[in-house]
Amino acid sequence: MKNIRYNDSMTRIFTGLQPTGTLHIGNYLGAIVPWHELVNASDDSQALLCIVDQHAITIKQDPEKLKQRIYELAAIMLASGVDYKKHIVFPQSQNPDHAYVAWLLTCMTPIGWLDRMTQFKEKKAKVEGYKESVTAGLYAYPTLMAADILLYDADLVPVGIDQKQHVEITADIAAHFNVMYGETLKVPKFHTNKETTKLYDLQDPTKKMSKSDADDAGRIALTDTAELIRKKIMKSVTDNDNVIVYDMENKPGISNLMAIFSAVSGLSNEKIAAEYSGKGYGTFKSAVADAVIAYLEPFQAKMNQFLEDKGQLRMILDEGAARSYELSHPKTIEIANKIGLYLHA
Ligand code: ADP
Ligand code: TRP
Repeated sequence: MKNIRYNDSMTRIFTGLQPTGTLHIGNYLGAIVPWHELVNASDDSQALLCIVDQHAITIKQDPEKLKQRIYELAAIMLASGVDYKKHIVFPQSQNPDHAYVAWLLTCMTPIGWLDRMTQFKEKKAKVEGYKESVTAGLYAYPTLMAADILLYDADLVPVGIDQKQHVEITADIAAHFNVMYGETLKVPKFHTNKETTKLYDLQDPTKKMSKSDADDAGRIALTDTAELIRKKIMKSVTDNDNVIVYDMENKPGISNLMAIFSAVSGLSNEKIAAEYSGKGYGTFKSAVADAVIAYLEPFQAKMNQFLEDKGQLRMILDEGAARSYELSHPKTIEIANKIGLYLHA
């Protein structure tokens, strides 16, 4: 199949995922599946899916782990069924325009705008003596994100609600640039995933399943083996009253397992309750494990195929990066020249 090139009538969709933490079934059902629905909703849309490794290093990363996670994330994206000939899957660091334009945008973004970013405020608040350890990179994070998006004249940016403010500052930066240097940048729109089931931690079902949680027992990682998935589900925390009914407030453990079961099997909570009432939690948990394992099996087989053939994986990523550069470089030159820099083709 031939690579498809962009044309102006297409809706451009840009999103970025950080290669940090362990992607889990909550991320899959809550972000990856809705992303596919958005991208496949129309033949006239084309998406860029960027592995934002340069964002990841705003917080210190172990170099070997980071390298491994870039491949893992790429394999996860590809195994989820992204048509990588039509769309573009690429690592941010393989396209130098992102960091280049990020610097230009950093130079025209008022610090008052960055001071307002809640993600920075929250991250900084968690670090004692932050002035010595929180980096300028973390502060400038939103201008790198703005470069990612604005380089491609993206129309839509699908992200979780926590990233809304970063898309808004991107829109402000674009408008600001256009006022300063003339119409150049497209003002993008935030797009949030449709309402999806939020999955909770298997060990503490009052908090959400999270990829950054230090304890791995609470989440079903996309890279977990069938055996490990079964073990985690069998050991999940529930009440003792042996009643299978959906009641998030009083029975969060059982309700969460029902939600997971329902999401992977398509069965309603009522059907699940009717089928398993009176059968005991052991039987129920075992059925949930079977359903999750069966749901993830074809996806994991594809993911492992990609991971076992690093050569092919690199080829796909490098080709994606080359195609992204064809789009981003003329834009980079245009932006640089409007500002008065020397850069040319
Ligand atoms: P995490 O909280 O695990 O670090 P992120 O905040 O990076 O994950 O979220 C990435 C995407 O995955 C977001 O679109 C978010 O809505 C979705 N997501 C994260 N955790 C869950 C969950 N437990 N259940 C459903 N969706 C989730
Ligand atoms: N900041 C985003 C997050 O942490 C990741 C990201 C970086 C991104 N660049 C982007 C998302 C551009 C959308 C568009 O989730």
